[in-house]
Amino acid sequence: MNDMLFDEAYLENRARTRELFSIIAPEAYLDSPIPLRHPFVFYHGHLPAFSFLTLNRAVCGERSIDEKLEELFRRGIDPESRAKANELSIERWPDRPTIERFIEECDRRVLTVLQKNERSNRLATYTILEHEAMHHETLTYIVHQLPYHKKRPSRFSHRDGPVPYSEPLAVARGIALLGVPDEDEHFSWDNEHGALEIKVDDFSIDRFNITNGEWLEFVDAGGPVPIFWEHADRQWRLRACFESISLPRSWPVYVTLDQAQAFARWKGLRLPTEAEYHRAAFGTPWGETRRYPWGEESPSARHGNFDFRRYDPEPVFASPAGASAWGVESLVGNGWEWTTTPFAPFPGFTPQTTYPQYSIDFFDGRHFVLKGASPVTPRRLLRASFRNWFYPDYPYLYASFRCVR
Ligand code: AVJ
Ligand code: FE
Repeated sequence: MNDMLFDEAYLENRARTRELFSIIAPEAYLDSPIPLRHPFVFYHGHLPAFSFLTLNRAVCGERSIDEKLEELFRRGIDPESRAKANELSIERWPDRPTIERFIEECDRRVLTVLQKNERSNRLATYTILEHEAMHHETLTYIVHQLPYHKKRPSRFSHRDGPVPYSEPLAVARGIALLGVPDEDEHFSWDNEHGALEIKVDDFSIDRFNITNGEWLEFVDAGGPVPIFWEHADRQWRLRACFESISLPRSWPVYVTLDQAQAFARWKGLRLPTEAEYHRAAFGTPWGETRRYPWGEESPSARHGNFDFRRYDPEPVFASPAGASAWGVESLVGNGWEWTTTPFAPFPGFTPQTTYPQYSIDFFDGRHFVLKGASPVTPRRLLRASFRNWFYPDYPYLYASFRCVR
């Protein structure tokens, strides 16, 4: 997506990983604030190990640094149950200095290859760069769940405002273009391959994401409480990334797909499909398909809340310059958008040669597609075809929604 040299891009990624790790108090290194995910120590080793395994070992055929550590850090988990997580858990992790020496050696070896800038390494290079970028977001979710006293305090100013009236905006019937054509020269993951045209009927969609303010009415009517909320001193508060604050009514509510669908049912509405998201975000009344909701311009701060500009959301109306051709706001940024489409391959799917397990393990009909971006989705991942996926009851991600009718 940019002309940055690969070694510089790798170092930039590593710097962000270091920054995220510097938030975590050293005594929390073995903590796993999200019980079904590995402890921080795993992610520390996983990122450089994955890069080394994918680029140096698999593509360049280099010899190992340390076979045991490479195996230990090869792959993360997204187990479905506590029992499965326990089965996969490790009793004793190597000590931190050992891991740090291993990390240094992985980085040195990866950088040596990247500096050669060989064309045959291109696919593996993008694989490792995007993999680390995705983990920046995952790591932030996990850091979010760490108790505040175990984080290096970071203060950010927060902005709230009135809950806007979210008028439903019309999206005219037309063709949604999903995925990317096989001949596309840019990097994309296996699950994006195979361009798909889907006919979408007329519909209307909320101009803004559902806010905390609107969700509060649902809670008052007996709806579920989002995990980021807490009730203290007879008022609702939001557990933002670094501090608990009075519930910002104008921010998008972050909820699970199950919770979002309960809200939509309560209103007599429903959530969009992946194809409807594409129409609302990239379709235009004049039949063209845009690169981004706002047009062709590359993403910048005025288009939305993404790329770690901040760790927390902004009011849903904060980025009017990022509106789509139909006027729908923040379809990219300020929180992923849940869709009701089960995560599945497009026609002609073949697994990514550089990372065959990336998608196929999740084509189980039990994961659902999310589109867009959150405040902590790196720029590198902001493209129309990018697809994220999670279980419908996974509560830790920064995902909001809107309703269609
Ligand atoms: C695409 C975000 C669902 O975190 O489970 C990281 C990305 N895959 N390492 C995840 C991923 C392997 C994946 N998501
Ligand atoms: Fe991973």
